[in-house]
Amino acid sequence: TSKAVILIGGPSRGTRFRPLALDQSKYLFPIAGKPLLAHTIDAILKIESITEILLIGFYENFIFEDFITDYNTRLRYSNVNCVIKYLKEFKALGTAGGLYQFRDEVLRNNASDNFLLVHGDIICAFPLVQMIEKFEHVKTSSKQGKKSPDAILFGVNLDHYNYDLMLTMNSTYHTSFGLIVADPQENDKVIHYVEKPESKISSVINGGIYLFNTNVFKLLSDAKIEKIRKANDENCFEFIDEDTLSIERDILQKLPDLNRTYVYNYKGFWKTIKTPADAIVANELYLDLIYQSKRSESLTKPSININPPVFADKSTKINYTKTCKIGPYVSIGKNCVIGSGCRIVNSIILDGVEIGNNAIIKNSIISKNCKIGNWTRIEGSGLNLVSINELIRKNGTSKMKALLETNENFKVIGIRDSGNITILGSNVQVKDEVLVLNSFVLPSKQIGEDLKYEVIM
Ligand code: GTP
Repeated sequence: TSKAVILIGGPSRGTRFRPLALDQSKYLFPIAGKPLLAHTIDAILKIESITEILLIGFYENFIFEDFITDYNTRLRYSNVNCVIKYLKEFKALGTAGGLYQFRDEVLRNNASDNFLLVHGDIICAFPLVQMIEKFEHVKTSSKQGKKSPDAILFGVNLDHYNYDLMLTMNSTYHTSFGLIVADPQENDKVIHYVEKPESKISSVINGGIYLFNTNVFKLLSDAKIEKIRKANDENCFEFIDEDTLSIERDILQKLPDLNRTYVYNYKGFWKTIKTPADAIVANELYLDLIYQSKRSESLTKPSININPPVFADKSTKINYTKTCKIGPYVSIGKNCVIGSGCRIVNSIILDGVEIGNNAIIKNSIISKNCKIGNWTRIEGSGLNLVSINELIRKNGTSKMKALLETNENFKVIGIRDSGNITILGSNVQVKDEVLVLNSFVLPSKQIGEDLKYEVIM
C-alpha cells in the first residue's frame, strides 16, 4: 500500500476532551514524548511502501500546520520518501464523506490496489504490516486466480484484556461497537458485520483500522447517488444530509455481501481516546510499548530515582535527591523544573511546569506552565484493582476469568473515568501544602485551599 488516511474529526467532536483540548486538538496532546497523532503516523511509517499520509478532518488548517511542517521537514532530512498532508472538510462529513470528497488524492499515484484507513482516536500496537501480509495472502491463495480482497478489517478480540471492555462489560458492550462474525475455516472471511447490535453476536469488534481495496470508492459513489435520490424524493420524509457518508453504513455493512472481506485478528491492547482520563491510560500503554521495544533508549534511564517507564524531555530539570521518586508511567514535557524530594506516579506533565519541593503528583494531568507549591499534593485516586478483578470474576467471559487466574501477563489496569483523576488546565497555580484530589481546574486559576471532587470553572 502507498497511501494512508487518518480520520481526525474536528473541534465539535473533541468536546469530551475538555478542559485539555480548549486551545488545541486532542490529537496533538503529548503522550510519552510526542503527540497522540505522531504515534499513529510513526506506526504507519513502518510500512516501507508508504508515500503519502492524508489527515482528513474539519479542524481549521492552522491547528495542524506546525505539526505537519515539522514532520515533513524531519522526513525529508532522514530521506524518508513520504509526505503528510492535511485535507479539510467544509463541515463534518461523517467517517466516509471526506474520504469520498478527497478520493482523487487517495487514488492519485497510488502504486497499489489498496489503501490504509485509520481512525485517529485509537491506540494499539498497530500491526499494519501484518494486515498488509494478510491482504497479500488472501490474494495469492484466491481460487479465482490472484484476486484482491475488498477489505481487511482490524478485529479486536474482546475476550482478551481490553480497557474499553472493562468500562462497559458490566452492561452491554456490544451495543457500542461494530461486531464482526468471521469464518476461521476460510482465512477469517467476514460473514456478518453488524453496527452496535442489540445482542452479542460475536466477541470480535471493529477496531477502526481498515485496509481497503480501492474498489470501495464504487460503493461510496453508489451510496452518494442513492442519498441524492432520497433527498430529492418528495415521498421521503426522513431528513437526509447528502454531504455525509459513513464507513460503517455505506461500506462495511455492504462488504460481507461482496464476499471478499477478511478480518485480521488482533489480541493486544486497544483503546479509543475520548476523554482526558483516557490519555492517562494511553500514556501507560505507549510507555510500556516503548520500554519493551528497541526505542527504549529514548526513555529516561532507570535509577534509584527513576522507576521505569518514564519519559522526561532532556530540557527538563529534575532535582535528584534521595527521596525523589519518579515513575512508573510518567511523561514530562519540555523546560519543566521538578523540585527535590518529589514523588510522581502515573501522570502527564506538559511543558514549562514548575513543581516545588516534596510535592506528590499521582494519576493527574498537569497542563502547560502550571506552578505547584512545596509539599503540595495533586492526586487522582486512580482505580481500585481489587474491584476490577472482582468485576471480571462476576461478569467476565470464561476466557477472561481463566486468563485472570492463570496468566501473569494479563494485566488488569481497570476502570478510569474522569472522576478519579485530577486535571489542571494551563497556567494554574497551586499554593504550598494544598491537596487537590479528583478535581478539574480550568486554566489560569489560583488554588490556595484543598479541593476534593470539585470542578473549578
Ligand atoms: P462514537 O461516535 O462516540 O460511538 O465513537 P466511534 O468510536 O464510533 O467514533 P466515530 O465513528 O465518531 O469516529 C471514529 C473516527 O472518525 C475518529 O477518529 C473521529 O475523529 C473520526 N470522525 C468522526 N466523524 C468524522 C467526520 O465527520 N469527519 C472526519 N474527518 N472524521 C470523523
